[in-house]
Amino acid sequence: MKRGGLLLIVILLALGPAIALAANSAVNAIESHKHLGVASCSNSVCHGASQAFRDSSIQQNEFAIWQEFDPHARAWQTLGSDASKAIARKLGIGDPAAAKVCLDCHADSIADGMRGERFQLSDGVGCESCHGGSESWLNAHADKGVTHKDNLKNGMYPTDQPIARARLCLTCHMGTADRMITHRIMGAGHPRLSFELDTFTWLHPHYKIDESWTRRKGEWNGVRDWAVGQGVAAENLLELVTDEKAGWQGIFPELVLFDCHACHQLMSGRTWGPRQGTGLGPGVVRLNDANILMFRHVLAPVDKAAASRLLEQTRALHQATTKSREATFAAARKLHASIEGLLPTVAAFNYGPESLDAILSSIEADAARGEYRDYAAAEQVAMAAQSVVVAFENDGKVDADKATLLRSRLDALYATIKNEDSWSREKFRSALAALRAAAP
Ligand code: HEC
Ligand code: HEC
Ligand code: HEC
Ligand code: HEC
Repeated sequence: MKRGGLLLIVILLALGPAIALAANSAVNAIESHKHLGVASCSNSVCHGASQAFRDSSIQQNEFAIWQEFDPHARAWQTLGSDASKAIARKLGIGDPAAAKVCLDCHADSIADGMRGERFQLSDGVGCESCHGGSESWLNAHADKGVTHKDNLKNGMYPTDQPIARARLCLTCHMGTADRMITHRIMGAGHPRLSFELDTFTWLHPHYKIDESWTRRKGEWNGVRDWAVGQGVAAENLLELVTDEKAGWQGIFPELVLFDCHACHQLMSGRTWGPRQGTGLGPGVVRLNDANILMFRHVLAPVDKAAASRLLEQTRALHQATTKSREATFAAARKLHASIEGLLPTVAAFNYGPESLDAILSSIEADAARGEYRDYAAAEQVAMAAQSVVVAFENDGKVDADKATLLRSRLDALYATIKNEDSWSREKFRSALAALRAAAP
C-alpha cells in the first residue's frame, strides 16, 4: 500500500513536467528562430505569384491567397475594430492592438530581438506564425535538391504532420498556458472558440493536396486529421486543467475550460437531463469534454477496448471535479497519459472506407444515450460528420445522387445547431439519425 502510494507520487512527478513541456513545444519551435516577416516570402517569383505556377511542385501564389482570403492576414486589423476596442475597454487593457494578451493570438507576437528588418506586427498571423522562423531555412529552402525533410531539419515547422499541426493551431484556437484565453476575456465579449482540425484546415487553404504534395510529404487522410485533432485537443484541455497558473483564477478553476452552457442557461429552462458519460447529477458545472467524447469515436475502428477504458476514465475525471483539486489533477493526468499513449496508433491508422461506418455508429450510439446534451459536443459531432462525409466522397464510394443526399442531410444537421442559445436537442438527434441512414 505504502509503496503503491510512493510509486504514484513518483509517476505524478515524472508526468507533471512532461505535460507542461508538450503544451509549450509548438510555440517554442515556432519562435526558436528569427522571424523575417511576410515581405520576405511575398516576392512574385517566390510565394507572391498572382496565378499558380504550372511547372512548380508548389503553387507559388500562397501569399496572394493568404492576403485575399485568409482571416489570419486580417487578425491584427481585427484588434482595431469597435468590437475589439469594447473588449479592451471592459478589461481595462488600453489599446488592444498593443496589448500582449491580444497580440499573442492576433499577430506574430515574437520577442522584439527575434524580429528581422522586414517584420511587421500588422501582418497579423503571417507565414512564420505557422511555418516557423525562416532565418535558418529561407535561403536554402528553394534550392534545387533540397527536400522537405531538409527544411524540417533546418527548423521549418512540420505543418504537414497532423499531431504537430493540431498542437500549433490549438495554441491560438483553444489557448495554451502561454497563449491563454480566459473567461474574463470571453465575459468582455470575445467569441467562444471552437476548433476541429480537418474542418479548419480546409476553410481557407493556400495549398493543394495533389500528386506532387503526396510525393513530397506523404499520404493525406482527412478523417485521420479529424481523429488526431480530437486527441490533441483533449490533451490540450487536460494540460490546462492541471496547470496551477493557467487553469485557476483565485478560488475558482478557469471557467473557460468548462461547458459554457452549463452555466449560461435560462433559469426557467428545466432542460437538465442525465449524461451517462459524466455520471453527474443536476446543478453541477461540467468540464467541456467535447473533444474527449469525440476521441472515443476516433477509437471505434482502432481499439474498442481502449474506447471503453477512456469512457471510464472520463467519468472518473468528471466525478473527481466534485471532490477536490488533487483528485481532479490525478484523474486528468491519468486520462492524459491514456490519450498520449494512443495518439501514435491513431496517427498511423489508415482510416479507410470500412472505418467510417464504425465511427458513425459509435457517434449515433452516444446520441441515443443522450451524450450530446451539451452544445459544444453537438457542434463537434457536426464537424466530425462533415469529415466523414467528405471522406466518403473522396473514396469515390458514393455516386452523385448519394453525395447530394449526404450533403443535404449534413446541411440539415448544421442547421439544427446554428443558434447555440435556442437549438433543440431532439431536432439535432433526428437530423443525425437521418444522416446516418443516408450513409453507405
Ligand atoms: C498565432 C495564432 C494562430 C495560429 C497559430 C492559428 N490561428 Fe487560425 N486564427 C487565429 C485568429 C486570431 C483568427 C481570427 C482572425 C480574425 O478574424 O481576426 C483565426 C481564424 C482562423 C480561421 C477562420 C475561422 C472562421 O470562422 O472562418 C480558420 C479556418 C483558422 N483560423 C484555421 C487555423 C488552422 C488550421 C491553424 C493551424 C494550421 C491555425 N488557424 C493556426 C489565430 C491563429
Ligand atoms: C488564445 C488566443 C486568442 C486570444 C488571447 C485572443 N483572441 Fe481574439 N480570436 C481568437 C481566434 C482563434 C478567433 C477566431 C475565432 C473563430 O472564428 O473561430 C478570434 C476572434 C476575435 C474577434 C472576432 C473577429 C471576427 O472577425 O468576428 C475579436 C473581435 C477578437 N478576437 C478580439 C480579441 C481581443 C481584443 C483580444 C485581447 C483582449 C483577443 N481577441 C485575444 C484567438 C484569440
Ligand atoms: C495558420 C497557419 C498558416 C499560415 C499563417 C500560413 N500557412 Fe502555409 N501552410 C499551412 C498549412 C496547414 C499547410 C498545409 C500542410 C503543409 O503542406 O505543410 C501549409 C502549406 C504551405 C505550403 C506548402 C504547399 C505544398 O504543396 O507543399 C507553402 C509553400 C506555404 N504554406 C506557404 C505559406 C506562405 C507563403 C504563407 C504566408 C503568406 C503561409 N504559408 C501562411 C499553414 C499556414
Ligand atoms: C461556472 C459557470 C460559468 C461557466 C462554465 C461559464 N460562464 Fe460565462 N459567466 C459566468 C458568470 C458568473 C458571469 C458573470 C455574470 C455577471 O457579471 O453578471 C459570466 C459572464 C459571461 C459573459 C458576459 C455576459 C454579459 O452579460 O455581459 C459571457 C459573454 C460569458 N460569460 C461567456 C462564457 C463562455 C463563452 C463560456 C464557455 C467558454 C462561459 N461563459 C462559461 C459563469 C460561467
